Amino acid sequence: MLKLLITRPIAQPVLDQAESLFDVTIHSGGNMTVAQAAAALAEYDAILPTLGDAFTADAFAGDIRCKMIGNFGVGYNHIDVEAAARVGIAVSNTPDVLTDATADIALTLLLATARRAGEGERMVRSGAWGGFDVKGLLGTHVTGKTLGVIGMGRIGQAIAARCHCGFNMDVVFHNRSPKVTDVPATQLGSLHEVMSAADFVVVATPGGAGTTKLIDAAAFAAMKPSGIFINISRGEVVDEVALIDVLESRQIAGAGLDVYEKEPHVPDRLKALESCVLLPHLGSATAETRQAMGQMALDNIIAFSEGREPPQKVN
Ligand code: GLV
Repeated sequence: MLKLLITRPIAQPVLDQAESLFDVTIHSGGNMTVAQAAAALAEYDAILPTLGDAFTADAFAGDIRCKMIGNFGVGYNHIDVEAAARVGIAVSNTPDVLTDATADIALTLLLATARRAGEGERMVRSGAWGGFDVKGLLGTHVTGKTLGVIGMGRIGQAIAARCHCGFNMDVVFHNRSPKVTDVPATQLGSLHEVMSAADFVVVATPGGAGTTKLIDAAAFAAMKPSGIFINISRGEVVDEVALIDVLESRQIAGAGLDVYEKEPHVPDRLKALESCVLLPHLGSATAETRQAMGQMALDNIIAFSEGREPPQKVN
């Protein structure tokens, strides 16, 4: 029987199916270190890992028994997929099933930051609210403004559709390759053009080497002083210190973040900023979506076990 390591307790129906087919072990203790990843690659035929598990190049340097990694998550920047391919391991991910949930979190952050919902919540809970205030906690109007999407993939397009159809927003975007979108949207010539044209900038690129610190101090300098910055992709895409600097000096109006450079570490300087809404990487966190992600990861492993090409293979 194929030996499968699942690195987190996934939805019970998916786990039940996995246990009916394979000899399943569930890793306890949270994020896997490189040494734990290497040991797992030597011990199991297949692994179902997730974000935070360190399948770096070093993890693939020793003895390898594993032939299949079915990642739980669309982003796989925690797995060196080229190193995996070199030692004959197929890697798959879970696209599409989390697009809507992640786009919804982008809108949650956009609205909460623009309308100062975090500050308002803290005020009510602390007892500091003195009643309806004509000039209190005035936010930024959202309807009719301009959205700038950095990375117009599936999630970027779902965010654009919500903003265009729901909030009558104009959409501009930056994408590495030319992209034709269903929603009316204008692809601008450079990242900086999008940063400066948009009232709300939303980062929706994949992580990884090609996008590391794509949004740097120069990119932030291009933003409007009234601009609001949202990141739902990966923390590493943004120079976090540069972001904190422009927020502290009020060069931009606010930020809504679901992801951080060194998760779960969130810098104290960021936490001290009232102009930020900070979420704990909730993009795909609905019960339905997490079950669908688990199912897709498992379905890829089942395909591999039956000698078929994993449908969501990425390497
Ligand atoms: C979550 O961030 C994912 O990549 O699925």
